[in-house]
Amino acid sequence: MEKIKAMITGVQGYVPEYRLTNKELEKMVETNDEWITSRTGIKERRILKGENQGTSVMGIEAAKGLLEKTNTDPKDIEVVICATVTPDMPFPATANIIADKIGAKNSFSFDISAACSGFLYALQLGSQFIESGTHKKVLVVGADKMSSIVDYKDRTTCILFGDGAGAVLLEPAEGDLGIRDAILRSDGSGEPFLHMKAGGSRRPASHETVEAREHYAYQEGSTVFKFAVTNMADASAEVMERNGLKGDDVAWLVPHQANKRIIDATANRMGVGPEKVMMNIERYGNTTAATIPLCLWDYEKQLKKGDNLILAAFGGGFTWGAIYVKWAYDPK
Ligand SMILES: CC(C)(COP(=O)(O)OP(=O)(O)OC[C@H]1O[C@@H](n2cnc3c(N)ncnc32)[C@H](O)[C@@H]1OP(=O)(O)O)[C@@H](O)C(=O)NCCC(=O)NCCS
Repeated sequence: MEKIKAMITGVQGYVPEYRLTNKELEKMVETNDEWITSRTGIKERRILKGENQGTSVMGIEAAKGLLEKTNTDPKDIEVVICATVTPDMPFPATANIIADKIGAKNSFSFDISAACSGFLYALQLGSQFIESGTHKKVLVVGADKMSSIVDYKDRTTCILFGDGAGAVLLEPAEGDLGIRDAILRSDGSGEPFLHMKAGGSRRPASHETVEAREHYAYQEGSTVFKFAVTNMADASAEVMERNGLKGDDVAWLVPHQANKRIIDATANRMGVGPEKVMMNIERYGNTTAATIPLCLWDYEKQLKKGDNLILAAFGGGFTWGAIYVKWAYDPK
């Protein structure tokens, strides 16, 4: 019997209204629009404002929109996975909150922590529920409120990140469509270069940790940059080779949006021209787990059934990977 595969049957994104521009950042830290644009490609990012507004707020919006556009009854959703490093709280899982608010009463739900590669990890895991034959409708959300862990006094990180969410629906695939192959990796020795020191069990929150500004994302940008370029490109090249794909066979590269220069280097290594690279970093910055579904959402109308997509990401952990997807539907 042919092995069941999973396919994406819909995608939806959500970004908050508030736009934090480079000009506004110029008033907050010693930086300028020219430096940010030339070093990162970012012009503005969205920020979720308001009291008691957590990551789930954005995940719920994306998930609700997705159910509506795919005519899916929330009671038919069997699994909800949310990739995030900015959960509403350590527990319960943000996925639990999303599942409750969208009425996915017959699902079980949990979070995945793999930073900027979180969506790829969640997509692969979600696909495997379908592939095993045990589940037929899986909701995969990538959502992060990075503004809640960004130090707006640190010019090397605050220029990079924004808030957003994206969601996809996974269902059993037809023919050779859907999630074809995945290469996912992690290397915990990357911890010193990208992490948040306090707030976990090693350094619980205290006056001291707050005063030392340890509840913010810490990054050694140039080290992360080098690892990101090498590993994202290696994983993408490997998944292409394993599936006999050349640059010309790839319709779209869907890269994690961390820095335009990392994206350009990855595309170059894969032999994929800039016209085939999804890019929205200039408008949203790095939304961590949300970048890839937000790209798919932005470009959905240009995607055709049978298009070969390579999704590639790199993030804190370190985590990285690439997934080969044969897009399953024409624009609706
Ligand atoms: C953070 C990042 C944009 C910095 O760019 P870079 O070209 O590596 O710049 P460097 O860190 O070498 O810094 C160069 C100079 O610019 C300065 N600089 C840093 N941030 C600045 C800012 N916002 N505005 C102006 N100058 C800035 C630095 O202080 C440094 O000055 P110095 O030479 O006098 O010390 C880049 O390293 C990066 O994108 N890293 C990867 C980020 C990433 O992918 N993170 C998420 C993982 S998914």
